[in-house]
Amino acid sequence: MLAVNEDRIAAAVQRLGSENAFEILARARQLEAQGRRVVHMEIGEPDFDTPEHIKKAAAEALYDSHTHYTPSAGIPALRATIAEYASRFRHISPVYTMENVVVAPGAKPVIWNVLSALLDPGDDFIYFDPAYPAYASCSSYLQANVHAIPLLESRNWRMDLDELESRVSDKTKAIVINSPHNPTGGVLTKGDLERIAEMAQRHDFVVIADEIYSRNFYLDSDYVSIAALDGMRERTVIVDGFSKAYAMTGWRLGYAIMPEKLAKTVTLFNNNTFSCVTAFVQMAGIAALTGTDEPVQRMNETFRQRRDRLVSGLNDIHGMSCTLPEGAFYAFPNVTAITSDDRALASHLLEVGGVACGGGSSFGAAGKGYLRFSYAASLEDIDWALEQIAKVLPAFKG
Ligand SMILES: Cc1ncc(COP(=O)(O)O)c(C=O)c1O
Repeated sequence: MLAVNEDRIAAAVQRLGSENAFEILARARQLEAQGRRVVHMEIGEPDFDTPEHIKKAAAEALYDSHTHYTPSAGIPALRATIAEYASRFRHISPVYTMENVVVAPGAKPVIWNVLSALLDPGDDFIYFDPAYPAYASCSSYLQANVHAIPLLESRNWRMDLDELESRVSDKTKAIVINSPHNPTGGVLTKGDLERIAEMAQRHDFVVIADEIYSRNFYLDSDYVSIAALDGMRERTVIVDGFSKAYAMTGWRLGYAIMPEKLAKTVTLFNNNTFSCVTAFVQMAGIAALTGTDEPVQRMNETFRQRRDRLVSGLNDIHGMSCTLPEGAFYAFPNVTAITSDDRALASHLLEVGGVACGGGSSFGAAGKGYLRFSYAASLEDIDWALEQIAKVLPAFKG
């Protein structure tokens, strides 16, 4: 009889990464079960409830028996709604149609399926470090030739475009950008996007634009998508979803928008993996995009207040310095004056202070010496967390 012990696990598994935030969350919950107060700033999920009209639409769809399989690319009405919304929000012309849209149970699985559709072993793939861990995990699993280019705190967490220029070539198959950015809150400027777009067209590569935080955006200017720039609609894959903007992390609903031929291939991966997304959840997605936008704007205003409170509080703590995030809901303070072992510091803050946050190195080598705080916590919790950090920091032996 074959036992499933370690030597039976596929060697390819060694190339997979994982999201450390879920492990910190598990430890934080253990401490809470022991009666400890913990402020959760470790995981990227809005603490708000999903807006009422979306929940209602899901319940109605459930009772209307939207409980069966759907097409693998998603329910046509949802795909059409996404196409209309995305074209309007991003000023894309010609507008997208449903054939450009592939729906998935979250942005994360659609990133996996898009990369699977694009990358052969040995293909050059570029991402920026620090980054959401899924890009490195999937591209390494697919045996792409992976290049991580550091983002610079000195440029408010944007890349050095001359360095990017020196690293792209005709061999580059795809790059992934993420603006607003997890874990730093950085936002690429229109000038950055124009320069990346020019490189993409000169070297003929695909840009995967992870825009899941496009509604968590605090600048007064309009959000700019690279897909809206001249010549980019046909070489951009937009990744987006409902988790962050609509506080729908647990519903598992995301999508990607791309040229039709690629959409067919990504759909084939959907078909081979999860088959389709829960039908009544897709119906709720239509309600999210067509219903009132007021809850999204309200949540964002609250995030902005929390950002201001957290970042100024972190900057008041001796040894920490933090840039002002322009989007997403993360603060990424520099703690190199305290330690280079960011994970040990994060663990100290949780175990001793009850403040759950992430070590920057969990997001790549360039994140070493930083912490990531998700400001999906109330102002009261943020104040308490800041007090706790100041209190327990002196006992840290880094
Ligand atoms: C940059 C980025 N992309 C994608 C995702 C995936 O979101 P979901 O799978 O919940 O749609 C996340 C979640 O944290 C993220 O931070």
